Amino acid sequence: MISQEMEKAFNSQINAELYSEYLYLSMKAYVSRLNLPGFINWFDVQVQEEHAHAMGMFDYVISRGGKIELLAIDKPETDWESPLEVFEHVLKHEQLVTSLINKLMDVAESSHDRAALSFLDWYLKEQVEEEKNVGNVLATLRLIKNDANALLLLDKDLATRVFNPPIIA
Ligand code: FEO
Repeated sequence: MISQEMEKAFNSQINAELYSEYLYLSMKAYVSRLNLPGFINWFDVQVQEEHAHAMGMFDYVISRGGKIELLAIDKPETDWESPLEVFEHVLKHEQLVTSLINKLMDVAESSHDRAALSFLDWYLKEQVEEEKNVGNVLATLRLIKNDANALLLLDKDLATRVFNPPIIA
């Protein structure tokens, strides 16, 4: 059984994950306008990952006898100045999500909900990985500055990213 406080916190995190999906979909639309297939692929994988993060929590709440309440998803931004600005936004957003997962774990801790804590451990590790990967792309983009050839090389690299459906347990 899940406490009402945990249920509310999970429903709000499901909303944050779905917002992330929406935000990355909007970023995918932006890089599509720049005609960068590798970046498009990278955001496509990101969109699928965020959907999987939301659904992992969705299934968990139901499996614990909780009630899902889907909240309204905010409208994401639609325009950025450059791929660099997009990835600065991605990193800032992932840092925010990490802080939200930490807060969710605080609620689990104060509710003495060890099952939820154990479940959320996967999300915490995922955030460490996400921040690291995004940080690497961002570092490359900072080096690239206005070098179009280097940007196209990075684009080729981002084209190789593949979505592996996560096993969230
Ligand atoms: Fe679901 Fe990118 O955090």
